[in-house]
Amino acid sequence: MHTDLSDQIVLVTGASRGIGRATATALAEAGATVAVHYGRSADAAGEVAATCGEEARPFQADLSTLDATNSLIDQVVDAYGRLDTLVLNAGVAVPAPMDASTERWADAWSETMHVNLRAPELLGRHALRHFQSQEPSGGRIISIASRAAFRGDTPDYVTYAASKAGLVALTRSIARGFGDDGVKAFTVAPGFTRTDMAQDFIDEYGEEHATEDLALDRLTEPSDVASVIVFLASGQADHATGTTIDVNAGSYVH
Ligand SMILES: NC(=O)c1ccc[n+]([C@@H]2O[C@H](COP(=O)([O-])OP(=O)(O)OC[C@H]3O[C@@H](n4cnc5c(N)ncnc54)[C@H](OP(=O)(O)O)[C@@H]3O)[C@@H](O)[C@H]2O)c1
Repeated sequence: MHTDLSDQIVLVTGASRGIGRATATALAEAGATVAVHYGRSADAAGEVAATCGEEARPFQADLSTLDATNSLIDQVVDAYGRLDTLVLNAGVAVPAPMDASTERWADAWSETMHVNLRAPELLGRHALRHFQSQEPSGGRIISIASRAAFRGDTPDYVTYAASKAGLVALTRSIARGFGDDGVKAFTVAPGFTRTDMAQDFIDEYGEEHATEDLALDRLTEPSDVASVIVFLASGQADHATGTTIDVNAGSYVH
């Protein structure tokens, strides 16, 4: 099976590090033109864009703010003329312990919901408008949720699990409501994946906590998630629209 994305413009949010970085690189290797979104890691995003070929460019937007989120899709469409696939990958895991002050608790919920759910809904809204109006019409949205959406998370990360469950419902609703417009929407739900975010969990709970549930003998790497995203972006899985693919080293069957 040959995967050729050379006719595709793809925006990957949170492409400066971790899963997003591996995804941008893998998409570019398959021929896609990649818009490399980042928040704070400008140097890292520049490196990713440089490895993704001449057409790749970094795009900065703090997804915890409404204005920056609101203009990102238009910036990408202005630069490339269209958008074929949106990978909603950027995310945060902010702890909200039960014994935190109400202010800290509320801040954690607010930041998490903004980056992990509100930004995706707004980016998705703008992307859908372009998908409907561009020629040829249509496009794909691939949301990176989490195993936590389905089995919950530890008490400190309830907000993270809730935001990802919302993202799953958002993505399924897009698949359900916009299929007639040629829009396909998928969710990828990773388990622990070796990135900066997972390292925070490992530092807190230990490496054993991350690997004890796995059927496979090693922690998932960002490239293991990226290859599934490339497959979904390719169109070869379009009739699986609305689905969620678990990439968790077999932790549900162990
Ligand atoms: N790693 C895991 O174990 C795991 C498991 C399940 C699901 N996931 C999900 O997979 C996705 C990627 O996670 P990861 O592990 O690769 O995380 P990561 O290494 O921490 O990278 C997070 C990415 O999101 C961007 N980002 C965070 N906050 C942002 C903000 N306010 N504005 C703009 N960009 C922002 C970061 O950009 P800058 O550095 O440029 O700010 C970075 O590129 C997330 O949605 C995460 O929830 C991860």
